[in-house]
Amino acid sequence: MTLKQIVKATLAMSAVGMIVLSGMRLGPPKVHADEQDSVQDLAEIGLKISPVKLNLEGKDPTLVGLGSYIVNAQADCNGCHTSSPADAEYGASNNPYLRSPLNNKPWKAQAQYYLGGGQIFGPAGPGVSSGVYFAGPGNGPLLISRNLTPDHTGLPEGGHTLEQFLNIIRTGHDYDHLHPNCGGSVTTNCVNAPVNGDVLQVMPWPTFNNMTDYQLTAIWTYLSAIPCIANTDSPYPNLVNQCP
Ligand code: HEC
Repeated sequence: MTLKQIVKATLAMSAVGMIVLSGMRLGPPKVHADEQDSVQDLAEIGLKISPVKLNLEGKDPTLVGLGSYIVNAQADCNGCHTSSPADAEYGASNNPYLRSPLNNKPWKAQAQYYLGGGQIFGPAGPGVSSGVYFAGPGNGPLLISRNLTPDHTGLPEGGHTLEQFLNIIRTGHDYDHLHPNCGGSVTTNCVNAPVNGDVLQVMPWPTFNNMTDYQLTAIWTYLSAIPCIANTDSPYPNLVNQCP
């Protein structure tokens, strides 16, 4: 081998080495910027997966779509805000948790109960387990997920404005004050300290708190685009909605 050949061979080998190295994953796989999901992409999926017909009139379809994406693909609002028993969510003929029928995709939630509330989470607290207090079950009033569908005003969850909705998620404030703390003249349908009867229990508002105002606005807008569920035969008056 001449010196020129040796230099050439060494260069060729290091080039191969570089190619092999660059193909190796030294860290987590990189996603190219142009492969990231845009809000538009998510909104498009959201509009496709909504299990109910949407009223887009006068609404920004991107907000409605993004809201649907968060509600139906991420936050599972309907998992809690649909009536008990669990079968009500999908119905027996399209239930992904049953052996039959298999693979009956898409597993769309049943429209007649969708976000209408009514799932029972047991009595409100406090309960005590090994000296540790937890919010439920206790001996207070039943904790029941609320009706999130719009009423005759067109505003979601029985007429709450965007400002009120943001406040609910940011602070857990219960505008209906369904389970106040016991004390003074309040002796029934109340919860004992240390549970805070002013805030929503079970509802994951401390987690949803981390969403941006834009994302929460999208959820609120989506909730105003879904059909109203009246729930007039509900034994729980707070679930009853006056539909248009
Ligand atoms: C783990 C179950 C669970 C999940 C998941 C859940 N919720 Fe709730 N939510 C509840 C329960 C239970 C209540 C009523 C709590 C109470 O009475 O203290 C409630 C109450 C609410 C209220 C108050 C309604 C009113 O009329 O004041 C809103 C708004 C709400 N939920 C929105 C949502 C949205 C939006 C999502 C999804 C992003 C969601 N929830 C997901 C359980 C849940």
